[in-house]
Amino acid sequence: MATAERTNPTAMSAPVTRAAARPSVQVAAPSRREFLYYIWGASIALLLGQTSAGLIWFAFPRFKEGEFGGTFAFNPEELPGVGAAPVTVASGRFHISHTPEGMRALYQVCTHLGCLPKWVPTNFRFECPCHGSKFELSGVWIEGPAPRHLDKFVATVTYADGTTVETPTDGGAIPLDPERQITSIQIDTGARIIGELHP
Ligand code: FES
Repeated sequence: MATAERTNPTAMSAPVTRAAARPSVQVAAPSRREFLYYIWGASIALLLGQTSAGLIWFAFPRFKEGEFGGTFAFNPEELPGVGAAPVTVASGRFHISHTPEGMRALYQVCTHLGCLPKWVPTNFRFECPCHGSKFELSGVWIEGPAPRHLDKFVATVTYADGTTVETPTDGGAIPLDPERQITSIQIDTGARIIGELHP
């Protein structure tokens, strides 16, 4: 006679836990070679970023036209006559002087301690209100504690025929040709030529 066999349902399979149901994921640590590749890639990316930033920085002018540190357009019709009082452009911190040698763009600031010498018509010279240094119309030192002649900015004169002439590298005057029409005068206040020490 067959007998029914009773089985315990809980004994049929092993207990299932949550942890056992999930596949285990193992993250392998990068090898030394991979780690060096990552460092190398990051260095290249940083270098490229710095290079790009530098190119963008130099591609765009840092100063706007008409802002000190940038270029100023000086109206040729306002150019003073030879030996006449200079014309001051306060926003550009320069004087335009015109002597028999030509024109110069003189930096306004005294070469002693940075005050602003003023043009004194009665004495026909620049005089510094702080310690009394004096300078000729050309920017040449006359007397006082200032150790150097006045500094100059680089100016560019363009004639109607398209030719241009620029301030010499020693800061000397730009000789002007009275026979030719000047169409533009540009003063670059970002390009200063330091005045020479006087004897
Ligand atoms: S700052 Fe001009 S003489 Fe001293």
